[in-house]
Amino acid sequence: MTRYHVVVCRGPECGGMRESAKVRTAMQGAITDQAAGERAELDDYSCFGRCKRGVNVLVRPIPAGETKDQRRRLMLMPTSAPGALLYNRVQVEEVGRIVAEHVLSGQPIYEWTQRVPPDEPLAAVGADGACALPKLER
Ligand code: FES
Repeated sequence: MTRYHVVVCRGPECGGMRESAKVRTAMQGAITDQAAGERAELDDYSCFGRCKRGVNVLVRPIPAGETKDQRRRLMLMPTSAPGALLYNRVQVEEVGRIVAEHVLSGQPIYEWTQRVPPDEPLAAVGADGACALPKLER
């Protein structure tokens, strides 16, 4: 049984502008409703550096034997972890499908990993590590 680390961005754009806390709450609800608690470890993260694509949600398989301490260290560069997929522009009403298809069935929803604004600059994080993208047009 593959377990997944499900990480919702709570950074300034995902959290402050796009209310990612609602996505996280919905994700917790979907995990509970679909009895996926043994398959998913829900977490949050400060910024994946893809701010304009937010709300971003990372889903990564947890290798057998990986400790919570190793998981914490991986959070320094979570998108580089093996098997990690970053869902973009995630809406509250979409999280149930992520749990059903990716977490429970091992079938990533690849089309949701490429929802990139056409004008997105290549560099998403400033030299100081802070989010440097212009605000998303609403
Ligand atoms: S604020 Fe979510 S990726 Fe930067």
